[in-house]
Amino acid sequence: MGKILITGGTGFIGSHTCVELLDKGYEIVVMDNLSNSKFESVKRIEQLTNKTFKFYKVDMLDFNGMCKIFDENKIDSVIHFAGLKAVGESVQKPLEYYNNNIVGTVNLLRVMDRYNCKNMIFSSSATVYGVDNSPPYTEDMTTSATNPYGYTKVMIEQILRDLCIADSDWSVVSLRYFNPIGANKSGLIGEDPNGIPNNLVPYIAQVAIGRLEKLSIYGNDYKTPDGTGVRDYIHVVDLAKGHISALDYAKNHRGFEPINLGTGNGSSVLEVVASYEKACNKKITKRFAPRRAGDLAISYANVQKAKRLLNWEAKYNIDEMCVDSWNFTVKNPKGL
Ligand code: NAD
Ligand code: UD1
Repeated sequence: MGKILITGGTGFIGSHTCVELLDKGYEIVVMDNLSNSKFESVKRIEQLTNKTFKFYKVDMLDFNGMCKIFDENKIDSVIHFAGLKAVGESVQKPLEYYNNNIVGTVNLLRVMDRYNCKNMIFSSSATVYGVDNSPPYTEDMTTSATNPYGYTKVMIEQILRDLCIADSDWSVVSLRYFNPIGANKSGLIGEDPNGIPNNLVPYIAQVAIGRLEKLSIYGNDYKTPDGTGVRDYIHVVDLAKGHISALDYAKNHRGFEPINLGTGNGSSVLEVVASYEKACNKKITKRFAPRRAGDLAISYANVQKAKRLLNWEAKYNIDEMCVDSWNFTVKNPKGL
């Protein structure tokens, strides 16, 4: 059996997936340009699993650099996490996002094609459901986006779909993640965003540890039970395990398959704050602020397809996610 190449493997979701793969006995190779993660992740993954693996600091815009990885390793499948992911920044720097995410992915696909490696698990997002569908979202709904980041996911899915039509040897599972939070139980790896976090739970974590003063809750007049936004938060370890199920599925199937990874349940901002307060045993200072442009009132997944095709479902609840996020934050108050 060959190895699994993990692009973006030192990042938040990638590092957790590396741990689950190594624990299950898979051989992996990790590639990352370290633009949004640190080499320290590699050490932590090795420490946690007691296993070693090859790490390549290579950018997916570097075609020859990626060829070298395929020359030096027999790669069976690729789990493709690498990409830029900040929505606001993507509005400011659309060319950087389209170049990095789309050109980078096309480069990677061309390298894979050259080395006859035609299995990919792709990191897509619930963002592809756009603003015109109503939750719970099912995979057959039309996709769209409201910002360049979201469009990179919509467009990459189209590229992957077209590739699978053109060449029936390709097998691609596009995992549409809902809102990943939490951390490995060890507290050795977790979410470590650069600068001020955009996402809710990393922001709350920094308020709880005293790095930020207060949380702004973006909108309390949504048509939701308590007026604040509702999301389908999923523990990153559950998410990581979903990739292993997807890998097994992709090896025995062909074509393009989009699959939601969520819990199927929504939590409001106020519910997440309450759960985090229990986890850290502190009050989170907060205030209500205007709605954030582009935000939806409610987003959650229909998870039947993941159950049916992957025999996978999420296990952890929101309280456990907050406990694990807090444990990571306490052990790494300044990040990795
Ligand atoms: P992350 O930023 O922690 O990880 C992404 C990794 O990709 C980083 O380590 C970064 O250095 C690397 N990278 C970026 N551009 C690269 C390039 N050109 N070449 C090589 N490496 C490159 O983000 P994450 O939260 O782990 O997300 C992983 C994937 O999942 C991304 O594609 C993201 O869009 C997608 N996703 C994330 C979320 C979320 O809430 N975290 C939700 C839906 C989808
Ligand atoms: C955001 C992105 C989405 C991306 C997802 C996962 C936007 C508009 N959307 O989604 O494209 O796929 O992250 O990376 O950025 N909230 C606050 N205060 C904060 C931060 C968030 O009240 O400081 C609220 C939001 O209004 C929302 C909820 O918390 O209701 C979750 O926000 P966030 O974690 O940013 O995720 P999404 O909005 O789902």
